This record gives sequence, structure tokens and C-alpha cells, in this order.
Amino acid sequence: MKVLIFDTVTSAVEAVADRLAGKVAGKPDCVLGLATGGTVEPVYEALVARYEAGRVRFDQTHTFNLDEYVGLEPTHPMSYHSYMARHLFDRTDFRACNTHIPHGNAADPAAEADHYERLIKGRGGIDLQLLGVGENGHIGFNEPTSSLSSVTRLKTLAPETVRANSRYFEHQSDVPQVSITMGIATILQADEIALLATGSNKAKAVRDLIEGPLSAMCPASALQLHQKTEVYIDAEAAAELS
Ligand code: F6R
Repeated sequence: MKVLIFDTVTSAVEAVADRLAGKVAGKPDCVLGLATGGTVEPVYEALVARYEAGRVRFDQTHTFNLDEYVGLEPTHPMSYHSYMARHLFDRTDFRACNTHIPHGNAADPAAEADHYERLIKGRGGIDLQLLGVGENGHIGFNEPTSSLSSVTRLKTLAPETVRANSRYFEHQSDVPQVSITMGIATILQADEIALLATGSNKAKAVRDLIEGPLSAMCPASALQLHQKTEVYIDAEAAAELS
């Protein structure tokens, strides 16, 4: 695991955007694994800026998002389908047929999860996976106690995740309780991983994932097993590192 500490959020974000754009430049038909959430929003903004400046194009690039809420239509404003359209896909030249997000409104969500896992394998796996991390150490929606050998499946959100994500919904009761998420083993199969964490609220998760014991209580600590993981953090997120 390589840990990169930046003075500011902006410099960490720019470094992650350079990492993703560099991968696409070197292999235009690469497969990117993508995340949602507040932390990675500025990364997508930075990628859009590079695209608008003619520095990168995505028309051959494939993507697989980590997760989606079960029960939300893709058009629901809080779905991760909408998030990705708003922040990246509708603002660049990604082709819709090359972008993948689990269908949270599938008639059989468990079958959709199995299908999604097979889709990733069928595409030859993920070249570079972008990750954020939850305050409780989750990656994707792999909450504490998730099996380190888990694959894409249904996962109930932890109460603290429901609380954290309620900032995007009108009422906390509107937050879906269940997700389809890539598993920890799915994530670990990516060739390379870039995790971004910023802000003091992530300092404990960052300490646990980098220095803590390998434990299902901090799912992100599983990244210690991955040979090519880079952790991009700002000074605040690095504050609890020894
Ligand atoms: C969502 C995802 C989550 C987020 C995490 C951090 O696709 O993968 O694991 O990365 O919940 O979210 P923010 O960045 O909003 O703190």
C-alpha cells in the first residue's frame, strides 16, 4: 500500500484525477471502477475540466460503479445512476453502453447482483478502481463485519451510513436501507486501486485502514492485502496516522 499525503484537498483531488486520466490516456479502452459520494465529486469535476480542455477522452472507456441503492429507479435524483449522469457521464463523451451501475430497481435484486459480478468478469475485470471510504471504514457498501471474501451482493446499510447519507435526502426515513454492492473480494480483484479520503471525519477510518489490524470491523483494511493500492489523503485525514 502506498500512502500519499497532500497539504490540501485540492491537491489530493488533482492527483487522483491525474491518476485516472493517465490510466485512460495510456489505455483508452480500460475498465474503471467508480465510486459515488461527496469525496469523489471534485474528482469528477476535475476529470470534466480535463475533458473540456481536450486533455482526455472517454469514448472507449468502460466503467463499473461500486454500488446502487435497492428500490430507487435510475431516474430518482438520489440514485447513483443520477449521480453519475450529473457529475460525469452527461458532461463527457462516455458511451452509455460502456457504463455500468447495478440496477437497484431490478425485479430480483439478488439475481441482478450475481449478474453484475459476471458482467465485471466478462469485461476482463477492473483495471483501476476508485474508492472513497465511510467513517466506519466501509468501502462500497461493505459495512463492518462484511466478509473479506464477499462478492457483489445485497447488503443492508449500517445505521451510521443511513445517517451519513441522509444529508442527500429530505428525511432520514427516505434513505434506502439496502444496496447492491461489489464485495470486498470483487474490489480486491481490481488490478490497481486508488482510494481518496479527505477531512477530519475520515481520520479514524484512514488510521484503521492503513495501520489497524486486518479486520472485518474495518472493511477498508482488506486493502492491506492488495499489492497495488494507493491511498490519497489530505492533512486532516492523515491526522491520526502515527
Ligand atoms: C459509494 C461508496 C461509498 C463512499 C463512502 C464515502 O459509491 O462507495 O463507500 O465512498 O460512503 O462517502 P463520502 O465521500 O460521501 O463521505
